[in-house]
Amino acid sequence: MSLKNKVAIVTGGNSGIGQAIVLELARQGASVVIDYVAHPEATEALEREICKLGNQSLGVEADVSKLADLQKLIDAAVGKFGRLDIMVNNAGIETRTSVLDTTEAQYERVMAINLKSAFFGTQIAARQMIKQGGGGRVINITSVHEDWPMPGNTPYCLAKGGMRMLTRTAGVELAKHDILVVGVGPGAVATPINLSTMNDPAKLAQLNAAIPLGRMARPEEIASVVAFLAGAGASYLTATTIFTDGGIMQSSVGL
Ligand code: BGC
Repeated sequence: MSLKNKVAIVTGGNSGIGQAIVLELARQGASVVIDYVAHPEATEALEREICKLGNQSLGVEADVSKLADLQKLIDAAVGKFGRLDIMVNNAGIETRTSVLDTTEAQYERVMAINLKSAFFGTQIAARQMIKQGGGGRVINITSVHEDWPMPGNTPYCLAKGGMRMLTRTAGVELAKHDILVVGVGPGAVATPINLSTMNDPAKLAQLNAAIPLGRMARPEEIASVVAFLAGAGASYLTATTIFTDGGIMQSSVGL
C-alpha cells in the first residue's frame, strides 16, 4: 500500500484509462476523488469497488473544461479528505478531424477538455499543495501524440503537444515546492476513445502490426505506471514524459 494516507483526484475518472487509474491508486491505499461528466452509475460502481477494498473515494460531477468546476474537485478533496497529494489530469477527447475539416467548435472543445483542464488543473492543484506544504505530484496523461504527428487528428495532437510543454514548464517552475510534474504518454489503449478502430478488424490489424509489442495496451498497464509515478519510488522524476506505448513511437506513423 505505497500510497497510504495520500489523496488523489483523477479527472475523467469513471471510464477508460481514468477508471483504471482510480482503481490502481485506491488499491495502493490512496483516497480518490473521481471526476466525471456522464454515467453516474459507472462512478457509483467504482465507489462500491473501492469500498470493498477498504478504501475511500468520492465521485464528483464536474466539467473540467471550466475552472470553477475544477475548483469543485479540489474543494471536495480537501473538504472530505483534508488535503491533496496527487492530481491526475486525465480527461481527454479526440475528434479525429484533419487540418482541413476541423470546425471552430471541435477545435475549442478538444483544447478545453484536454489542455485547458490540464493547465488549470495543474495550477489550482499546485496552489493547494503549496498551501498545505510537503510537495505533491501532478501527472498529465498525454499521448504519444504529444510529439508524434497523427494525420487526421490535428486538434488532439495540438492539445497533447501543449500538455508536453505544460509538463516541462510547470515541472521546472514548481520544482522548488517539491511538486513533481510528469507526463504519461500512452500509445493505443483498449478504451472507448479507440472504439472505432477496435470495431473495425482491418484497422485493428493494421494498428496491431504497427505496434512492436503487437497489441493495444490494457488500461491497467497505463494505471500501474501512474501509480508508480505517484509513489515514493519516483521522487526524482519531473518535467518529462514516460511513454507507455509498446514501442509504437519508434515504428511508423500514428494510426
Ligand atoms: C489516440 C488513438 C491512437 C493512438 C495511437 C492515442 O493517443 O487517442 O486514437 O490510436 O494514440 O496512435
